[in-house]
Amino acid sequence: MARYQPGRAGAIERLLDLVETRCAGPAPRVLDVGGGTGTLCARLLERLPRAEPTLLDLDPVMLTIAASALPSSVEVVRADLRDPGWHERLPRTGYDAVLAVMALHYLPPGRLTELYAELAGLVRPGGLLATVDDMPDAAASGTRPVVLDDGEVSWAGWWEQVAEDPTLGPAAAERARLFAGSPSAEWHPPAAWHLRALGAGPFDDIGVAWRDGDQAAVVAFKSR
Ligand SMILES: C[S@@+](CC[C@H](N)C(=O)[O-])C[C@H]1O[C@@H](n2cnc3c(N)ncnc32)[C@H](O)[C@@H]1O
Repeated sequence: MARYQPGRAGAIERLLDLVETRCAGPAPRVLDVGGGTGTLCARLLERLPRAEPTLLDLDPVMLTIAASALPSSVEVVRADLRDPGWHERLPRTGYDAVLAVMALHYLPPGRLTELYAELAGLVRPGGLLATVDDMPDAAASGTRPVVLDDGEVSWAGWWEQVAEDPTLGPAAAERARLFAGSPSAEWHPPAAWHLRALGAGPFDDIGVAWRDGDQAAVVAFKSR
């Protein structure tokens, strides 16, 4: 994954720094939206073993891998963020942190605007919402160089292996049906767009927490 999502591991650590310093107590409830194979939830539990993570995703391949790799203390939820009723599948309503790493660019602008309002409603007073993604900014641009790792298969090669795997193959076929051949809207607005969209919600402090080339983290805090 480092090859396809450079900066992701560092971004996860920085998000977890925020959870540790800004969310009260050693057992924060954390929702990982579009959590994929569960890297963030696994790392959260290494850092805060009493945390209560929920991983949400739609992709049956990602969910199969996540469910087999993560401990049972992670609630793994299958739901479609394109569906306004997605949050009814969650095991709880109040989260100390709602996090999204490289996930929200899958949604088109209208749906993402609505989703921000839905996510805001899930954040407890004193909690935060954070998204890390490519948010190109003309004033601070510069794509990070992708460091190639010769031992790693290509993205297309990885999906070919998944399709041939006896366990994951059927999940890959279901994935193709669910996403109807186009999993991502590939919509990458500048950080200012995210700040505006979140500004319509119940947050009192919203900003760009860090930027690394085109990748940025937008964080919104809800006061007590
Ligand atoms: C680029 S991956 C990032 C995964 C993970 N956050 C990470 O950093 O490793 C984007 C994730 O968003 C999920 N996703 C995309 N569209 C979704 C939708 N409509 N509902 C739920 N999850 C979705 C994908 O299945 C995928 O796992």
